[in-house]
Amino acid sequence: MSQPVVLGIESTCDETAAAVVRGQTLVSNVVASSMNEHARYGGVIPEIASRAHAQAFVPVVSKALADANMDLSQVDAIAVSAGPGLAGCLAVGVSGAKALAWAANKPLYGINHVIGHIAVTQLQFGAFPADTLALIVSGGHTSLLHVQDVARHVDVVGTTLDDAAGECFDKIARILGFPYPGGPHIDRHAQAGDPHAIHVPQGLTQGKAGAQHPYDFSFSGVKTAVARWVEGLEAQGQPVPVDDVCASLADSVASVLTNKAMAACELYGSQTLIVGGGFTANSQLRAKLEQGGQEHGIEVRIPERALCTDNGAMVAMLGVNLVAAGVRPSALDFSIDSAMP
Ligand code: KG4
Ligand code: ZN
Repeated sequence: MSQPVVLGIESTCDETAAAVVRGQTLVSNVVASSMNEHARYGGVIPEIASRAHAQAFVPVVSKALADANMDLSQVDAIAVSAGPGLAGCLAVGVSGAKALAWAANKPLYGINHVIGHIAVTQLQFGAFPADTLALIVSGGHTSLLHVQDVARHVDVVGTTLDDAAGECFDKIARILGFPYPGGPHIDRHAQAGDPHAIHVPQGLTQGKAGAQHPYDFSFSGVKTAVARWVEGLEAQGQPVPVDDVCASLADSVASVLTNKAMAACELYGSQTLIVGGGFTANSQLRAKLEQGGQEHGIEVRIPERALCTDNGAMVAMLGVNLVAAGVRPSALDFSIDSAMP
């Protein structure tokens, strides 16, 4: 099967999404989000998100198939995010995918959402090189991975010891009064600010002595430093220079991510850096990675913004890799894994 056709289904957090991918071509891509329903709570409420998935599942999957001009009999396999994510949300997507796979007698693959964030770059840049480094930055994850075979062999080079970069941004955004998710608001305000106006510490520039992975990240100290600084100004009744705070924060986080990713590429002799995850929609990070890639002679593959945040295309694309590699499908009684490594 040289050009497998896979239906991908995503429901790990607040997006209900489905897409059809044929080989490395995106045939259809439908995303419904419950983000607005969480905005006033300052974060995703699992119960609200799960109900939204249950309501959106059938319309979203139906539209993805209709947009592809297909019915289920025409797909070779179904892939669904099995973790990591919110348990109630995962349960809706996985139960629905199992029902479809059973009814249409199609192979089903429970996939790792985080790996999907890097697989999606294939839609834009083609197959991975034989051996490559990958940087995944999202609301829940900040990881450097050594990808030898995306279908079978991915090792962790570094991961966050505390907050993910997106989580750090979302928490500072809340202090600055932006609605959830705050990352895009910080990005926008940072465009008008001075990145050197405020001293923001760079978390774990050297890697922790004796740490399991020398390329680990830490953003909780960055978050606390910025929060204390802002709260100190507010306590004194002084105005907060919001644009400068955003620009300085973005500069610090984007610099650490870029420097560690480039150093890891050099250590592993990788001439390519695959980039994925919702946070990689961030303008400062995109610019620093592009610049770092040029300086170090590394090809940086950053997907267009719409493919960075959660979607079904990433799930379907990883599913295509699994089918093409001859990986055995999941048994229909496989479990969700909300803490999947
Ligand atoms: O990958 P994703 O859609 O969901 C998870 O799997 O976590 O990532 C969502 C995260 C949120 O923290 C959001 O604030 C952040 O990505 N984000 C951004 C931007 N767009 C989304 N952070 C900074 N700048 C952006 N432009
Ligand atoms: Zn994600």
